[in-house]
Amino acid sequence: MNVSVPADPQPLHPGLSSDPGNVDLGSAALVSPLPHSPGVVNSPVNSPRLGILASGSGSNFEAVMQAIAQGQLQAEAAVLIYNQPGAKVADRAHQWQVPSLLLNHRDYGDREGLDRAIVATLHQFGVQWVVMAGWMRIVTPVLIEAFPQRIINIHPSLLPSFKGIRAVEQALAAGVRIAGCTVHLVVADVDSGPILMQAAVPVLATDTVDTLHARIQVQEHRILPAAIAQAVASQGG
Ligand code: GRF
Repeated sequence: MNVSVPADPQPLHPGLSSDPGNVDLGSAALVSPLPHSPGVVNSPVNSPRLGILASGSGSNFEAVMQAIAQGQLQAEAAVLIYNQPGAKVADRAHQWQVPSLLLNHRDYGDREGLDRAIVATLHQFGVQWVVMAGWMRIVTPVLIEAFPQRIINIHPSLLPSFKGIRAVEQALAAGVRIAGCTVHLVVADVDSGPILMQAAVPVLATDTVDTLHARIQVQEHRILPAAIAQAVASQGG
């Protein structure tokens, strides 16, 4: 296990209530010409504490942090959990001074074992909402029941089409002309929970998986923070 905590970690505030705050993420907010630089983000005291799960490059993690830094999402990133050693998202967490923890799925006998470790960590950091920002593992009831209606996932397709892995590849293979992304609440069935927000993009004749995924990701970075803000507000924090 590898734990990385900022030199001056934020105090833990388990069980804090939260303020719905600003949920208006207008389109202008999405094209801010001056993105904030990583650093300490001072969130309001009653901001909901997010636990972010990610496996890869972390561009969605970055979008969430930018939205928090710009005051478009009133929340605090309490901890990042990642499962791939060397994942770029861990570097991003370091830059934003968000505590990060490697929980390598290979170290656990089954999915439930990994999820028990995740739940313990999330509780330790006083997490109230879980955001799966590119978490490439199937989660079990161990995690889902620990945070009922409070786990948010981003998926690179217009659900309910193209669930599961390689969603962008599936969309290209199917020949659809419109693709996109979905933010939804997590339930036991993979990529099947209530839809919070979606965004569509055109599929071009020249598209490869990479070019289409890049176009989808622009929209992911827009709707993930907006959907988190909306979900938090709808449940009163
Ligand atoms: C995103 O496309 C997300 O929809 C999928 O994994 C990707 C993660 O990208 N589940 P990043 O690591 O946030 O850049």
